[in-house]
Amino acid sequence: MKVDAVAVGPLDLTSGLALLQTSQQEGFPWLSANLLDKHGRPLFQPVHIKKIGKIKAGIIGLTGAPLHLPADVTLAEWRTVLPELIDKTSRQCDILILLSSLSPAENQEIAQQFPALHLILAADQHSGNMNPQQVNNTLITQTEAQGKYQGILTIDWNTSGRWGQAKEEELTGLRNRIGALDWQLQRMQQRKDLHQPAYLEKIEQVVRDRKIVEQQVKSLEKTLAPNPAGRQEAPCSFSYNFLALQGSMPKSPEIESIITEIKQQITTLHSGKISQDIDFPFLGHTGCVSCHPDQTSFWQETRHAKAYQTLQRKEQALNLDCLPCHITTSPGFSLSRDQLLSLPPALQTVGCENCHSGPGISHASNPVKFQMTKQVEEKICLSCHTKERDNTFEYQKKKELIACPAG
Ligand code: HEC
Ligand code: HEC
Ligand code: HEC
Ligand code: HEC
Repeated sequence: MKVDAVAVGPLDLTSGLALLQTSQQEGFPWLSANLLDKHGRPLFQPVHIKKIGKIKAGIIGLTGAPLHLPADVTLAEWRTVLPELIDKTSRQCDILILLSSLSPAENQEIAQQFPALHLILAADQHSGNMNPQQVNNTLITQTEAQGKYQGILTIDWNTSGRWGQAKEEELTGLRNRIGALDWQLQRMQQRKDLHQPAYLEKIEQVVRDRKIVEQQVKSLEKTLAPNPAGRQEAPCSFSYNFLALQGSMPKSPEIESIITEIKQQITTLHSGKISQDIDFPFLGHTGCVSCHPDQTSFWQETRHAKAYQTLQRKEQALNLDCLPCHITTSPGFSLSRDQLLSLPPALQTVGCENCHSGPGISHASNPVKFQMTKQVEEKICLSCHTKERDNTFEYQKKKELIACPAG
C-alpha cells in the first residue's frame, strides 16, 4: 500500500525512536511538527506538500502525548508550533490538512482557532468512526483505531476554499445514501439465494430507492450550481464512507508471518519468568468444588473453563495482552506482570471468582460469615465481553448459557 503521509502517534513511539528513524530513512513518510530533538529541532518532517491535479495540498503532522518520551526527545505544545506553520503553509497551498493524534478537545480548539485549516484527520483511541463534523471552516473526522475500518473521504475542492453549509450537507448525505445503497446492492447480488422471487423483489426495492435518491441529488445539484453571473463560486463539498474490515477478507501471508513471528518472540521473551513463590488474592475453582460440586461440574463444561487452554492452543498463554480476560481474576484487580506469568493451574481458567464477587478465600474458610454474591451483574461480563471481542453479547441470553444450576 502506498501512503503519502503518516503522523507519528503516541503508540508509534513505544518501540523507541530508532525504529521510526530507520523506517524514515528507508522512505516511510513520517510527519511530526512537535517532536523535537534536544536542540529544539523537529525530528521528523513537519509538513508534506503534495500536488493533486491542479490542487496543492499541505499536510501537517502533530503527535499527541505518549506515555513515555524517549530520552532526548521533547514534545512541543501545538500552540507553539502551529501558528507559524499554518501561516507559512497556507500561503503555499490550496488545501490544508492536519493529521492529529491530539485529544478531541484539542482538535476542536485548533479548528476554532485556525480557519485556514480545512481538514483534521484525527486519531483518538476512543472515539471510533466519526462522521465529518464542521467547526468553522474545518472538517474533523476520523476512523476507528487498529485498522478495523477504511475511511474514504472524497473531496471536491475549488478555489472558494470553504466548505458548503446546510444544502451541501444535505447533498453529501444523499450521496452517501447512494453509496450505501450501491454497497447494499453489491452485497445482495452476491447472495446464493439471489434467484428466489422474494429476494429479487427486495433487490428491486433497493434499485427503486436508489432512483429516488438520485433524482433528489440531481435537483439539489441544480439549485447549487454556480450562478451565471459568476459572482460567487459554489462552495467545496465532500462525501464519505466507512468500510468495515470483514472477517471474510483474505489474509495477507506477508503480514501473517510477521504476526506469527512477533507472537513467538513474546513467548520466548516471557518463558522462564515463572516463579513459585508469588502470592495470589484468589483461591481458584479447586477450592470451591468440595462444597459446590454441582455448580463446579456444570461450569467445567462451559467455555470459560477452557479459556486458558484456548490461549495455550494459540501459543499465547504468555501474552500479557491476552491473559487478563482468559484467567481467574476479577474487576478491580489488576494482576502484576509477574503474577500473570506465574499463574498456578487452579487460576488458569475463567473461574468462579471472576463472576461471584471476587476473592473467595475467606468465604471458603467461613461460608456463613463471609458471603459470596450469587447474582452476576452485566458489567462483570462486559469487563471481558467487550464490543471489540464479542459484538453479539446479549446479557440475558448468554447468562442462561453459563448460569450455574441451583444445588
Ligand atoms: C466449606 C464449604 C464452602 C466452600 C469451600 C465454598 N463455599 Fe460457597 N457457600 C457455602 C455455603 C454453606 C453457602 C451458603 C451460605 C449462606 O447462605 O449463608 C455458600 C454460598 C455461596 C454462594 C451464594 C449462593 C447463594 O445462593 O446465594 C456462592 C456464589 C458461592 N458460595 C461461591 C463459592 C465460591 C466461588 C467458592 C470458591 C472460591 C466457594 N463458594 C467455596 C460453602 C462453601
Ligand atoms: C474474565 C473474563 C470474562 C468474564 C468476566 C466473563 N466471560 Fe464469558 N467468556 C470469556 C472468554 C475468554 C470466553 C471464551 C473462552 C474460550 O472459548 O476460550 C468466554 C465465553 C463465553 C461464552 C461462550 C461463547 C459465547 O459467546 O457464546 C458465553 C455464553 C459467555 N462467555 C457468557 C458470559 C456471561 C453471561 C458473563 C457474565 C455473567 C461472562 N461470560 C463473563 C471471558 C469472560
Ligand atoms: C477484553 C478481554 C479479552 C482479551 C484482552 C482477549 N480476549 Fe480472547 N476472548 C474474549 C472473549 C469475551 C471471548 C469470547 C467471545 C465469543 O466467542 O463470544 C474470547 C474468545 C477468544 C477466542 C475464541 C475461542 C474459540 O475457540 O472460539 C480466542 C482464540 C481468543 N479469545 C484468543 C485471544 C488472544 C490470542 C488474545 C490476545 C491477543 C485474547 N484472546 C485477548 C475476551 C478477551
Ligand atoms: C461466567 C460467570 C460464572 C462463573 C465463571 C461461575 N458462575 Fe456460578 N453462577 C453464575 C450465574 C449467572 C449464576 C446464577 C445467578 C442467578 O441465579 O441469578 C450462578 C450461580 C451460582 C451459585 C448459586 C446456585 C444456586 O442458585 O443455588 C453458586 C453456588 C455458584 N454459582 C458457584 C459457582 C462456582 C463454585 C463456580 C466455579 C466452579 C462458578 N459458580 C462459576 C455465573 C458464574
